[in-house]
Amino acid sequence: MSKCFYLTTAIDYVNGQPHLGHAYEKVIADVLARARRSLGEKVFFLTGLDEHGQKVQQAALAEGKNPQEYCDGLAVIWREFARRLGLSNDDFVRTTDPRHKSVVQTILSKLHTEGQFYKKTHKGFYSTSAEMFLTEKDRLPDGSFDPSYGKVIELEEENYYFKLAEHQQWLIDYIESHPDFIVPESRRNEMLGFLKNNELEDLCVTRPAARLNWGIPIPFDPDFVTYVWFDALVNYISIPAAHGDPGVAAALGLPGGGAELWPADAHVIGKDILKFHAVFWPIMLKAMGLPLPKQILVHGWWQKDGEKLSKSTGNVVDPIAVIEEWGLDAFRYYVVRELDIGADGNWTDAGFRSRYQSELANGLGNLVNRSLSMIKRYRAGRVPRGDNDLAAEMNECHTRMVACYRGHRLQEALVSAGALITRANQYIDQTSPFKLAKDNANAARLDDILFTLAEVCRLLGVVLWPVIPGVAEKLQKQLGFNEPTTNLAERPRPIVEGHPIGEVFGLFPRKDP
Ligand code: MSP
Repeated sequence: MSKCFYLTTAIDYVNGQPHLGHAYEKVIADVLARARRSLGEKVFFLTGLDEHGQKVQQAALAEGKNPQEYCDGLAVIWREFARRLGLSNDDFVRTTDPRHKSVVQTILSKLHTEGQFYKKTHKGFYSTSAEMFLTEKDRLPDGSFDPSYGKVIELEEENYYFKLAEHQQWLIDYIESHPDFIVPESRRNEMLGFLKNNELEDLCVTRPAARLNWGIPIPFDPDFVTYVWFDALVNYISIPAAHGDPGVAAALGLPGGGAELWPADAHVIGKDILKFHAVFWPIMLKAMGLPLPKQILVHGWWQKDGEKLSKSTGNVVDPIAVIEEWGLDAFRYYVVRELDIGADGNWTDAGFRSRYQSELANGLGNLVNRSLSMIKRYRAGRVPRGDNDLAAEMNECHTRMVACYRGHRLQEALVSAGALITRANQYIDQTSPFKLAKDNANAARLDDILFTLAEVCRLLGVVLWPVIPGVAEKLQKQLGFNEPTTNLAERPRPIVEGHPIGEVFGLFPRKDP
């Protein structure tokens, strides 16, 4: 069996509210998954939920529910959120799934038997919201801890620790010799800077069950549960294990024979959780004898109107409300077009409207509408045969978009599609087919123009499909292709002479300003 292109997102905390940041990450991962499928690759796209830990336990208690019942209720909302975003995920992990918990326990037992853990007592400052001990380095210049750590308490407790420190130089060498391991480069430099200027401390991988019981029990010591990040990171291999991935199965002594998934081709994550993915996770994998993911693709953070997204201040963007008003594809298009993966973004309603009007309604929508309406009017709805005047531009757009999709440069892919749309709209203005149509002597020239426009629309319907699948399928249907072509690997064959187009309607309803 050949290996799948295996793509993951961060798993969201179940007790949070789905917002723009979560939606953005899931959409970019979905675009990458769809693009790879369109390029003929077998893809496995995983997303899901992070359900253990103190915050969930406390939130459940506050609602008078047991934590599992509480998570089950919220998981329904999150799954629905994934559906509304049009995600084409192949599985959805919940860290409370028995299939996940058993793999975490297998790993804990294996690492314990191999002497990777030790027990010690630690006294220090503990952040209840980050669920971790803080160090002196976490203090602000005035001696206090950053408010993002929430309530910080002094705590003394015994726990198991995972030997991280001894792998520090190995990790630096690995990152240095694998330039595509952490992308973009600024994030790679950040991690190298961190690793070269700090001494790694061993990782506390347990929490005393007396204090926190909503976690995966440590199989060799009933007094402890698993630290939530150790549990959560394992989702990237517990699901391959559940699908019988041969490499993971061999490393962990589990039954194999299924789909080849690991190593992941890309973990798509936000910048705030880079250290967990670029430091803890690689060392955990090394200890397990598993190869590292090929890439950690780090996206930036969204703000709204220049301020942090925050439920308490009401500074939120509700993706579902945007989708209901403007359509799923407009939302997907906007977030992909607005931000290069890695950069931070700022949502403004005006910015969204402006791209909608200029690039979707007046750009793509207008091009398709004008082109197909003219074929209806001047050629009785049948695509004529002619010369393709924009063949070079189409070729360039296709080649560049394929390279961008493969290189995870999604904004650039849309810039390239935008250039073709603008060019084709100008071409209509410059060649004035509506004037040519008035005189039959221009019939051959008009055929060229209408054929060229049909071809451009066709290509756009294919190359834009990973980002805006719904609109791309509608576009292709209007062109008379009821079975949409999503194959990006080859340029679509020229439309045959006399091909009947379908019903023409606006792809993007105009909105009053
Ligand atoms: N549960 C952990 C991840 C475990 S992965 C093994 C977590 N959950 S989270 O719900 O807080 O965040 C999930 C993802 O959403 C993260 O990648 C995070 O960076 C991303 N975002 C959360 N807020 C965001 C923005 N405002 N903007 C963009 N992405 C943001 O961390």
